[in-house]
Amino acid sequence: MIKAQRGTKDIFGEEIATWQWIFENAKTVFQNAGFEEIKTPIFEATELFNRGVGDSTDIVNKEMYTFSVGGIEKNETSITLRPENTAGVVRSYIEHNMSRQSPPQKFWYFGPMFRYERPQAGRQRQFHQAGVELFGIKDATADTEVIITAVNFLKSLGLADLTVELNTLGCPKCKNDYKNSIKEILAPHLENLCDDCKMRYEKNPLRILDCKNENCKKIFEKDEIKEVILKDYICDECREHFDELKKYLDELNIKYTINKMLVRGLDYYNRTVFEIKSEALGSQSAVCGGGRYDGLVEMLGGTSTPAVGFAMGVERLYTLVDKITPSKTDFFVVSNNTKEAMKLVQKLRENNKSTEFDLQKRKFAKQLEKASKIAKYAIILGEDEIEKNFYSLKNLSTGEQKKIDSFDELLDY
Ligand code: HAM
Repeated sequence: MIKAQRGTKDIFGEEIATWQWIFENAKTVFQNAGFEEIKTPIFEATELFNRGVGDSTDIVNKEMYTFSVGGIEKNETSITLRPENTAGVVRSYIEHNMSRQSPPQKFWYFGPMFRYERPQAGRQRQFHQAGVELFGIKDATADTEVIITAVNFLKSLGLADLTVELNTLGCPKCKNDYKNSIKEILAPHLENLCDDCKMRYEKNPLRILDCKNENCKKIFEKDEIKEVILKDYICDECREHFDELKKYLDELNIKYTINKMLVRGLDYYNRTVFEIKSEALGSQSAVCGGGRYDGLVEMLGGTSTPAVGFAMGVERLYTLVDKITPSKTDFFVVSNNTKEAMKLVQKLRENNKSTEFDLQKRKFAKQLEKASKIAKYAIILGEDEIEKNFYSLKNLSTGEQKKIDSFDELLDY
């Protein structure tokens, strides 16, 4: 038997109603906040992610689904299934010259992403993200807008008490000072760091702080190292930006904690970074990750444009929310006269009523049994009803049955 690939999942049956509900909430909350939907392709040129996400990240180094296409003809190209969507949205923003419109330009998306990671609870190889990206605003109002939109979305799903963790990485200059200090203090310990950290030490030392290796974590706990990690490297302008964001969040009563170890796993961030976590998720605790990426548009060939956004892991949201019971179909037409039943079904569907009938032409009692499982009402269309032109409507939760004289009256149910 051919089975679904490791780290991928069929989503169907009981789960679909909850998925649809999560999607509808995303759509409503994001659109209410002025974000427009954007659908970018599932695959992009590999170079987009190498440059956009960064070639020192785990995503680019270990986790991309990359393959060559076009070899048989000519122009062999390397393409990659998108591991995230910020780079794709930025590519689209540049390609369609969206910076010509007056800022902010605000987009939301919902769709599958692909990372070749070791599957475990809350971590898949194909997963879904719901996210937003906001372009053109440097001020902390934009960071606030994005964070409040994430919080509002979670609230709409009944998830009001998750922890928002916040940090600032500063501008490239602050980030550089931070990187250099970390390199300096860790230099004598380099031999004892894990292989990943040795690589990060050269390519992106900030990512060392994110290491989950117990041995590395012990090293970071040493007093003299901790002091350097927790020291502030933020310049006045970046501090002001961060203070302003905190002030707005306080005004809006959004609870957050400052996590100075929060550096995020993608290279493009500067200044604000944030994650929203739930302990209920275990080791993969982040439902949401985001932050500011003021340099990315320019780095990918556009004009310098500040930007900020987030993405939520939909599978992780799914495990946290109360599940939605699939709603029943409005009507089930029960009849031995298939032709008349089909005609009525068609008319009801044309009037936007969800309606089913028995495709197997089974006996009345069997049809009624099926109806009571999946429908709110059974419309009984027996010989008498057809001849005298009325409907018998049975409420399948109360068992009450009524005579209905016209089609319009039926539509009221
Ligand atoms: P990220 O932190 O890599 O950020 O992913 C965002 C969220 O996607 C995570 O918090 C998690 O909930 C979910 N996620 C990531 N990997 C997996 C996986 N393998 N299985 C299940 N869920 C997963 C980004 O992707 C950035 N593009 C976010 C962003 C948008 N920053 C600015 N704008």
